[in-house]
Amino acid sequence: MKKLEDYVVSIPDFPEEGIIFRDVTSILEDAKALHMAIDQLQEKIEDIDFDIVIGPESRGFIFGMPVAYNLNKAFVPVRKKGKLPCETASMTYELEYGVAEIEIHKRSIKPGDRVVIVDDLMATGGTIEAIIKLIEGLGGTVVKCVFLMELMGLNGRQKLEGYEVESIIQYPGN
Ligand code: PRP
Ligand code: MG
Repeated sequence: MKKLEDYVVSIPDFPEEGIIFRDVTSILEDAKALHMAIDQLQEKIEDIDFDIVIGPESRGFIFGMPVAYNLNKAFVPVRKKGKLPCETASMTYELEYGVAEIEIHKRSIKPGDRVVIVDDLMATGGTIEAIIKLIEGLGGTVVKCVFLMELMGLNGRQKLEGYEVESIIQYPGN
């Protein structure tokens, strides 16, 4: 039987030379793989006590929302700067070249809320670290972070020490 990782198409030298791009659209375009991805993410959090799934724009929306729906939880988007209309909290974080900024509606997280973060990929861990700061700044607690894929060579877990982190597919390099 095919495993989820068998469906991921890897593209060498995209978007730059030396990078192997792990394309999750190849999972989405196969009905069986799409089910496997959502089911396996869900299995990692279904026994946890939590209130909200957070997914980072944009690939985190694709995988986070179905999980929230299936588990009868709320879904809160973290968006790239300038997209959310109401009062926001924002956080900058470092990319390989330059900085990025993400935002969340302040009203979306209340003190005491228990939050799970779902995204397609952990690379450097910078995105998730910034999201954790946003959630904790609003009084929420991050109970787990789950990813479809993890690039072990970039040591993202080091940034997330003390948090529960799980991924379905691990790639040794970057
Ligand atoms: C990618 C990926 C993760 C993040 C991981 O998103 O979907 O969210 O990078 O990188 P990190 O662990 O080094 O922070 P990207 O910001 O490229 O945007 P996208 O989801 O809109 O494609
Ligand atoms: Mg992303």
